[in-house]
Amino acid sequence: MTDQPTSTSGRPWWMDAVMYQIYPRSFCDTSGTGVGDLDGVRRHLDHLSWLGVDGLWLSPIFPSPMADHGYDVADYCDVDPLFGGMAALDALVAESHERGLRVLLDWVPNHSSDQHPWFLESRSSRDNPRRDWYIWVDGTPDEPPTKWKATFPPGTPAWTWDDTTQAWYHHRFAPQQPDLDWSNPAVEAAMLDTLRFWLDRGVDGFRMDVIHMIGKDLSRIGPDYGDATDPVRTHGHLRRIRAVLDAYDGDRVSVGEVYILDVEQVAEYIGAGPEGPELHLGFDFVPLFLEWAADPWRTHLAQAEAALGRRGSWPTWALSSHDITRVRSRLGSEEKARAAAVLLLGLRGTPFLYAGEELGLEDATVPPELRVDPAGFRDGCRAPIPWDASPHHGWAGATPWLPWPPDPDVRNAASLRDDPASIVHLYRRLLAARRASAALRAGDVTFLPAGDPDNDDVLVLERRAPDGDRRLVALNFAPTPRPFTPPAGPWTVEISSTGAGEGAPFPNELAPDEAVLLRP
Ligand code: NOJ
Repeated sequence: MTDQPTSTSGRPWWMDAVMYQIYPRSFCDTSGTGVGDLDGVRRHLDHLSWLGVDGLWLSPIFPSPMADHGYDVADYCDVDPLFGGMAALDALVAESHERGLRVLLDWVPNHSSDQHPWFLESRSSRDNPRRDWYIWVDGTPDEPPTKWKATFPPGTPAWTWDDTTQAWYHHRFAPQQPDLDWSNPAVEAAMLDTLRFWLDRGVDGFRMDVIHMIGKDLSRIGPDYGDATDPVRTHGHLRRIRAVLDAYDGDRVSVGEVYILDVEQVAEYIGAGPEGPELHLGFDFVPLFLEWAADPWRTHLAQAEAALGRRGSWPTWALSSHDITRVRSRLGSEEKARAAAVLLLGLRGTPFLYAGEELGLEDATVPPELRVDPAGFRDGCRAPIPWDASPHHGWAGATPWLPWPPDPDVRNAASLRDDPASIVHLYRRLLAARRASAALRAGDVTFLPAGDPDNDDVLVLERRAPDGDRRLVALNFAPTPRPFTPPAGPWTVEISSTGAGEGAPFPNELAPDEAVLLRP
């Protein structure tokens, strides 16, 4: 157990934070397995402190057969030996806290591994006391109870036949990830205890995997429904989850993966619900799919602000994750990825960076024989992080579990840190600017017209804090220069995505693909 770092702003720490997602398998191998481990994370805490983030989220580190690389949990209260076991996590949490960095774990409550003792018991006989911890339906092996499809492997049923007890079990993901039945109070109680286990050990909160799926109404198992998800029940579970976190000091936080591409619906799970508080934070995934153009971004950002604002909830933003092509690869150029970084770190809310985003990493090209993702498309964004230009790029020597991203000899943390013009320095300057500005950290946001009615390619945000601190963020989505005269100038370029003109008066023109942060 270690003490939580203290908050200095008077607001919960997570409102002022910029978080950093680590996919531990891909971060740094110190033990020669070819898979990253927690000592590898600890080794690079210096990089996180240098960059200026406030905390990290570790994708799952629990014992797992790794059918979904950790999102199939075989024990919610331990750490897989592959990652270094419990001692490695304790050391990582302690050292992170000494540096003032928070640590979030990834809690996977919708499903366990099929190797979890609960499921092994559940499938062992129809009268096992844990039978109804999972979702079983009688039938015959030739026809699943419904036509529902699992999320992956693509096209497969959401049901698997079990010969021993002659019944089907339900899984929203792979067959090795059976869904827990949260409508059974014993399941909820056991899962809430797993939260307490880690909170007692000193972690600062959780990212909660597909949390919107946990509430289910089993009477919906039939042809009239697309799945058994019951939002009303989910809201109840979320209030009780929230009560567990709120019973601890130190503003422990929940960040929901509410994977619904509609921010109005996502907002229903965040903040002060009609019957009590639910998630503290929840990702909005729509930006990861938006066309790179001013109008869709302006429209969506305004819609998200309105949806979350109805309950006074605080937004959560990300450009990349372990589930989607990296932002640099999606946008197609480093210039655009740089502009996106200025936007992300200029938004109102809590930004999450995905490890390697600050290095401008692209997805790796993964040949078919090396693919390991059960969903089939996520290996590229999970490529190992190259730390330096040495032959093993700072990893322990074994061939990494996935191939390196492009150009690791030059695009690695050490080489980029040596180059003040590189993208990692841009991220670092943005983080420092955000930390120093009340407007950026905590101010409100308004979307300003770009001045010229023909200026459809420029997005402008104003951030303003109660103490009068102000910033403008302006982004030119076009590949050619665009005029932009900010209101009530003069304005100084605090940061440019191109690095040009910082500290000089803003010249009222944006370069191609440029985003700027302006201060009065
Ligand atoms: C969402 C996670 O982000 C993803 O990686 C995982 O495969 C599914 N949930 C299932 O746990």
